[in-house]
Amino acid sequence: MTEITRSQLALRNGRDKETVWIAYKGEVYDVTASRLWRTGNHYEHWAGQDLTDELKDAPHTAEVFRKFKVIGKLV
Ligand code: HEM
Repeated sequence: MTEITRSQLALRNGRDKETVWIAYKGEVYDVTASRLWRTGNHYEHWAGQDLTDELKDAPHTAEVFRKFKVIGKLV
């Protein structure tokens, strides 16, 4: 699987590039197609980083990732 570094991930925050990526449990998801992540911001959470620890603040489970493609693993 493609290896994605933290600096590559950091650029995909919806601002520096239009692409929006999120890392969760070591996998990087492309959520660019999501209306809820447009501009990289989602209820005070920011894309372009590892949000594993922040999922506990969400009113939903990791099921929300199911419809998105894993594009690589965070190294
Ligand atoms: C206060 C924190 C948060 C709130 C209020 C929130 C709220 C929501 C709501 C209302 C939805 C759509 C309904 C649903 O699927 O349940 C959603 C979807 C989603 N959330 Fe969150 N969320 C929060 C934090 C997070 C965090 C920390 C992550 C990542 C670890 C995350 C990732 C997602 C994803 C990937 C979706 C699916 C988007 C889509 O289907 O287009 N959320 N969130």
